[in-house]
Amino acid sequence: ELGPYRHFMQKEIHEQPRAIGDTIEAVIDNGAFGAELFGKNAEEVLRDIEGVQILACGTSYYAGMTARYWVEQIAGIPCTVEIASEYRYRAAVANPKQLIVTISQSGETLDTMEALKYAKSLGHDKTLSICNVPESAIPRASKLVYYTRAGAEIGVASTKAFTTQLVALFTLTCTIAKLRGRLDAEGEASYLDCLRQLPGSIQHALNLEPQIKAWSDKFAPKNHALFLGRGVHYPIALEGALKLKEISYIHAEAYPAGELKHGPLALVDEQMPVVVIAPNDALLEKVKSNMQEVRARGGQLFVFTDEDSQFGESEGVHVIRAPRHVGVLSPIMHTIPVQLLAYHVALARGTDVDKPRNLAKSVTVE
Ligand code: M6R
Repeated sequence: ELGPYRHFMQKEIHEQPRAIGDTIEAVIDNGAFGAELFGKNAEEVLRDIEGVQILACGTSYYAGMTARYWVEQIAGIPCTVEIASEYRYRAAVANPKQLIVTISQSGETLDTMEALKYAKSLGHDKTLSICNVPESAIPRASKLVYYTRAGAEIGVASTKAFTTQLVALFTLTCTIAKLRGRLDAEGEASYLDCLRQLPGSIQHALNLEPQIKAWSDKFAPKNHALFLGRGVHYPIALEGALKLKEISYIHAEAYPAGELKHGPLALVDEQMPVVVIAPNDALLEKVKSNMQEVRARGGQLFVFTDEDSQFGESEGVHVIRAPRHVGVLSPIMHTIPVQLLAYHVALARGTDVDKPRNLAKSVTVE
C-alpha cells in the first residue's frame, strides 16, 4: 500500500498533484466557476451573502485563515475565521446573511460540528461544508457542500487534505466573486488557468525534496524553531510550525514577520533556526528586512522562495527556490516545502511519523 514510500505521510505529500487535480476536476471540466459546484440551490444561498464566517480546528483552521485573504481581496466581502472550540462557547452576534463555512477533513471533529450547531441555533441557515469524507456528520448537517477529493488520509499530520481544502476555498471565493459581479470573463479565465497549472507547480515543489532533506540535520538537534511569513503566507508559516511540532516534537512557533520586533526577536540566537516563507510578491522587500533583523542577532535563516526573488545564499542564509511563482495560489505551492521539512526532520529524529504521540487522526471528543 505504501509503494515506494516509507510512511503514509510521505506518500500523501507526494499524492498532492493528483489530489488537487481531482479536487478541481469539476471546475476545470465546467470551464467556469459556478454555484452548482456546491450543490442544489446553491446560487440561492450564495447570491446575497454579506460576509463569510469560517469555523474549523487545527490545520483546517489554517486553511480558513488563508482563504480569508482571498475572500476579502477577490470577492470583496468581509471574512472572519474562528477556532471552532472558541466560537461554540462565546456569545457570538449572528448575522443570518453571513455564510457559515466549516472546514473539516474528517467531517467528524466534535468541536467543528458543535460550532456549526451553535451557529444554526443563532439563526444562521446558510451553511457550507468543505470536507474530505462523503456523508460524514458535518456535511450532512450543512446546506451546501464541496467535497475535496484527497482520498483517504492516514497520516495523523494532515497534508493533502490541507492543500485540497485550499483549492476548494479558492473555488468558493471565485464563485462568490462571480455572483457579486466582481469577476469578469478575463479574470475568471486567468484564475481557472492558475488552477489548471497548479498540479504541475506542486510537482516542481515536490522535486525539491532532496534539497529540503539536506536541511533536516540542521534542525534535528534543535529544541525550538521559528516560522515567519507575511500576508497570505502567514497561515502557511503557522501550518509549517504545526507540522514540525506534531511529528518531530520540536517546539515551533509562527509569527507574522512584521511582529518580530514586538517580542519574538528576543528569542533569536544561533540556536534558533528561522524558517521564512518569502515568495516573490509585493511583501518581499518587507520580509527581506525582517530577515536582516534575524541575521543581526545570529539567527540561522532557512528561506523558501520562488524564481526572481533576487537573493542568494550567504553566511547563515540558506535558500531553496521553487522554479515558478504561482501568483494568487502561491500559499498552496509554499505548503509543500514546509511539509517536507517537517517530515525529514521527524525522520532524522526517529519519531513515529504517521502516529505521533498523544494525537488521534479524528478528534471526536472535547
Ligand atoms: O478532520 P478535521 O479537519 O476537522 O481535523 C482538524 C484537526 O484535528 C486536524 O487538522 C489536526 O490539527 C491535524 N493533526 C493537523 O495535522
